[in-house]
Amino acid sequence: MLRPRTPIKTALANASDGQSVVLSGWVRNKRVSKNIGFLELNDGSMLANLQLVFPKDGIGPEAAEPVDKGAAVRVEGRFTPSKGKGQAWELQVDAIKVVGACPEDYPLQTKRHSMEFLREKAHLRPRTRTFAATFRVRNALAMAIHNFFQERGFLWVHTPIIAASDCEGAGELFKITDLEGQDFFGSESFLTVSGQLNVEGFASAYTDVYTFGPTFRAENSNTARHASEFWMIEPEIAFADLDDLLVLAEDFIRSIANEVHERCAEDFAFFNKWIEKGVVEEVSTTLNKSFARMTYHEAMDVLVKSGKSFEYAVGEGAALQTEHERFLAEEYVKGPVFVTDYPTDQKAFYMRLSDDGSTVGATDLLVPRLGEIIGGSQREERLDVLTSELERRGMETAPYWWYQELRRYGSTPHAGFGLGFERMLMYLTGVKNIRDAIPYPRTPGQALF
Ligand code: 4AD
Ligand code: MG
Repeated sequence: MLRPRTPIKTALANASDGQSVVLSGWVRNKRVSKNIGFLELNDGSMLANLQLVFPKDGIGPEAAEPVDKGAAVRVEGRFTPSKGKGQAWELQVDAIKVVGACPEDYPLQTKRHSMEFLREKAHLRPRTRTFAATFRVRNALAMAIHNFFQERGFLWVHTPIIAASDCEGAGELFKITDLEGQDFFGSESFLTVSGQLNVEGFASAYTDVYTFGPTFRAENSNTARHASEFWMIEPEIAFADLDDLLVLAEDFIRSIANEVHERCAEDFAFFNKWIEKGVVEEVSTTLNKSFARMTYHEAMDVLVKSGKSFEYAVGEGAALQTEHERFLAEEYVKGPVFVTDYPTDQKAFYMRLSDDGSTVGATDLLVPRLGEIIGGSQREERLDVLTSELERRGMETAPYWWYQELRRYGSTPHAGFGLGFERMLMYLTGVKNIRDAIPYPRTPGQALF
């Protein structure tokens, strides 16, 4: 047995002068001279490394000499107050054992690597500081999301990964077949683009529900914000309209941001300094004010009157492109903004039609640096309106028979949204490319590892 082991973070929290400990981890840096040797140890429990000291009057720098950067080691030593700055304790090493050696061709030799280089090394990049901070915040963010909903009595529903219909009606589906190219399930099936349609059935029984899982889009968008596989959080609430949804979304975004800021202070100090200067303050000050709201019509008016020259045309009926979304959030509102009531033909079939049919009860939440992070709507709860909308769009109604049935049996006004998990992580951390916000990115033309 090799355990129990003490995480470095726990050992440091309980450290006292002269206290002996046994630690395991990987050597991140090495500095050895004639008189003294230093190795920096990291086991992933915290961002900072622990300084291992090999003084001449101890086991000596020779003991550190054969241990290479990247090696996995087990050390025994005693804590002493650190002479170096930025750390309270260092470890005087009494014994070191190389558990797994690391030869010279280890790709993470130098201190700084480009994000592009590290993407080619997605199996090793978790060992860098940037990714250690990112994946720790990713973990904390997932927990904060669950905490938010669980504290409010929402039921987490595991909607299927294998979907029978196209939720968004946008045709960005990965089709599933067996190796012979045959439909396995007796009818067409796909990787899900959203759990929404399925979770609506659960909102019609448990009132407040959410999904949180991976979603897939065969969308040929080669941008820093689109991935072919990404995670989405989708709350769905019954007996609710669009206003109720906006209240929920605002409370949600603010709460989860505050929770991770608190829980991951060390990681956020790193992002603040090295990834996006001032990102913590930017996010917390803008989030703690109430979010702006404007209709699509008002948003277009602002864009037209801005006099800015955009790459994509602006004007009533035009689609809101990322550059427009960023202008609205970054320059006009200087914070998050809900845009609501989009033209019907720009949005999905399931959104609730306005009385004159020209707009739907949709909302996108736009934030600085990214643009859209949430897409949601009040749903069309009227069977006749839903059916005629499916037909008007020329959509095949057969796959949606059960979705229509939800409108026949105890239908209620209800609403929901989807938050892109990686986009939220990017917003909080300042990480600029979605490929660097997910463990093993899948993007058009690339699914390595
Ligand atoms: O706006 P979307 O397409 O909305 C839906 O899927 C609804 N069914 C959600 C709902 O109402 N339950 O996607 C929701 C969010 C977007 O705002 C964006 O943050 C993220 O999912 N998203 C992506 N993130 C990364 N890569 C992609 N290709 C994404 N497409 C959408
Ligand atoms: Mg959207």
